[in-house]
Amino acid sequence: MKSSFTKITSKNDKISDMIRVNQAGEFGAQKIYEGQLAVLHNDKTIREMLEQEKIHLETFNKILIKRGIRPTALSPIWSVGGYLLGAATALVGRKAAMACTVAVEEVIEKHYKEQQDMLEKDNKEKELIKIIEKFRNEEIEHRNTALDHDAEDTQGYELMTKSIKKITKLAIFLSKKI
Ligand SMILES: [Fe+2]
Ligand SMILES: [Fe+2]
Repeated sequence: MKSSFTKITSKNDKISDMIRVNQAGEFGAQKIYEGQLAVLHNDKTIREMLEQEKIHLETFNKILIKRGIRPTALSPIWSVGGYLLGAATALVGRKAAMACTVAVEEVIEKHYKEQQDMLEKDNKEKELIKIIEKFRNEEIEHRNTALDHDAEDTQGYELMTKSIKKITKLAIFLSKKI
């Protein structure tokens, strides 16, 4: 009895961590695009990606509330950090901003893929699985859009994307528990 209870709790904890980190990630993504737009005054392509991130964030905000999951305590840091990352890369240039998008979206897309695999056989989470699948596809689109807009032509592309990927992974790691 006790062991099965522990099992259920830890599974719920895992899903709560998942939703917390997704909400944090979408919040960060929105801030990055806002930072980019502050520099690249209403770039149409970036604006379109931001609009989708807003829907992603709103969706996870709602799920968070519905399930009574506390949000990450790190929001203020992700707010400033995301915005600065977006603005800084945009200041380097539009291609650098696109490189930032490639790096962030690639990490988020893989992260969603891991969640998809984890939830695959969970019949109670079909709705959540659908959401993750849809958002993952949109993150892949964002990455592809950024590649189409010459992300790879920015100077120091490899180093830049590697560094941003590391930062994004660290943010994901921290947002799971804090
Ligand atoms: Fe997103
Ligand atoms: Fe995205």
